[in-house]
Amino acid sequence: MAALRALNRHLLQAPRMLARHAPAASFASAQFKVCINGGAGGIGQPLTMLMAMNESVKEVSVQDVTMAAVPPAGVAADLGHLEFPSKVVGYATDPSKPAVDQLEECLTGCHLVLVPAGVPRKPGMTRDDLFNVNAGIAKGVVEACAKFCPDAVIGLIVNPVNSIVPAMAQLYKNKGLDPLKIVGVTSLDIVRANKFVAEITGKSPTEIEVPVIGGHAGVTIMPVFSQDPTSATISADKIPALDKRTQDGGTEVVEAKAGKGSATLSMAYSGARFGSKVLKGLAGTPTDECAYVASTVTELPYFSSKVTFGTKGVETIHGIGTLNSYEQGRLKEAMDQLSKEIDKGLEYAKANC
Ligand code: NAD
Ligand code: LMR
Repeated sequence: MAALRALNRHLLQAPRMLARHAPAASFASAQFKVCINGGAGGIGQPLTMLMAMNESVKEVSVQDVTMAAVPPAGVAADLGHLEFPSKVVGYATDPSKPAVDQLEECLTGCHLVLVPAGVPRKPGMTRDDLFNVNAGIAKGVVEACAKFCPDAVIGLIVNPVNSIVPAMAQLYKNKGLDPLKIVGVTSLDIVRANKFVAEITGKSPTEIEVPVIGGHAGVTIMPVFSQDPTSATISADKIPALDKRTQDGGTEVVEAKAGKGSATLSMAYSGARFGSKVLKGLAGTPTDECAYVASTVTELPYFSSKVTFGTKGVETIHGIGTLNSYEQGRLKEAMDQLSKEIDKGLEYAKANC
C-alpha cells in the first residue's frame, strides 16, 4: 500500500518534474500536436506517456509498424485514459510500403515529431553498426514529415545520431526545406553528466546543468565540466574518469540489459525533457538545450552545442564558450571522430536522398 502511494506520488509529480524544464503554468493552453514514431517501442511508450502528460499538448500521434510488440492503437487506448488534456491516437504502418503513403493523418498538423523508431544496440555493437537499418527507417519517417509537417521540429533519437542527422538534414535541404528542422537529441548525455556530477558532489542534480557538446557516440560525447559551477569544483584528477563514464553511459546500460535493449526509460525522460523545451520555445518562451544540428560553431558542418529554441524551432546556435586545456584536447579528439561519422551520413544522403 505504501509502495503504491509512493508510485502514485511520483506519477503525480512527473509533470512537475518536467516543469523544471517547461513549467506547465507558462502554457496558455493545450495547443500542440506531437508525434512519436516508434511509439510502441522501449523508448516510445514511456516517451509517449510523458508527452501526453505535457499540459501544452492537445494531441499525440503514436505510430509504429503493424508487427510492433504492442499495437500502437493499444498504447493510444491505454494513454488516452490519463487525466491530461491530450487526445492520443495510434497509427500502425506496413513497413513494406512507403511510409509517406501511410502517414498523412498521423503527421498533418504536427509541431513536434520525436523519432525513436529503429533498432537498439546489443552488447559488443557500436551505434554505428545500426546505421544501415536505422537510416532506412529514419528516411521513411523524415520523407513523410517533409510532405505532411515540413514546419515541425523533428527530434531524431534513433542511432547513430551522429550520421543519421546529417543524412536527414541533407534530405530536407534537397527538398528545399530548412535543415535546422532536423535536430539530433543528445539530452541523455546531459542528464547523465548532471547525475554523475551530483553523485560525486552530493549536490542535487536539479541544480546542475553540464553542457555536453560534440556528438552522441563514444569520444564525440564531450561534457564541458568547467562550465557548470558545481562540476567546476571537482578536482582535475577526477575529470577524466567522469568524462569517460559519461561517454560510456549508453554502453553501461546496454551491458546491464544483457542483449535485451539499450537505455529506454532514461531516454524517454530525456526525450521528454527535450520535447518540453522545444514546445516551450514554440509557445513563445525561448528555451535552451544542447542539441546536435547543422552548425557553424566549429569547422564541422554538424555539431552539438547549446541551442535556443523559439517560436520557429531552432532560433540561435551558441558557440562552445571557454574550454580548459583538458577540454581543448578532448574537443580535437571529438571532432576527428565526428568528422568521419558526419561524412558517412552525407554519403548516404548522396546515394539515397
Ligand atoms: P525498441 O526496439 O524497443 O523500439 C523501437 C521501435 O521502433 C519498435 O517498436 C519498432 O517496431 C519500431 N519501428 C521499427 N521500424 C519502424 C518504422 N519503419 N516505423 C515506425 N516504427 C518502427 O528500441 P528502443 O530501445 O526504443 O530504441 C530505439 C532507437 O533509439 C535505437 O536506435 C536506439 O539506439 C536509439 N536510442 C537513442 C538514444 C539517444 O540518446 N539518442 C538513447 C537510447 C536509444
Ligand atoms: C544511449 O546513449 O544510451 C543510446 O545512444 C543507446 C546506446 O546504444 O547506447
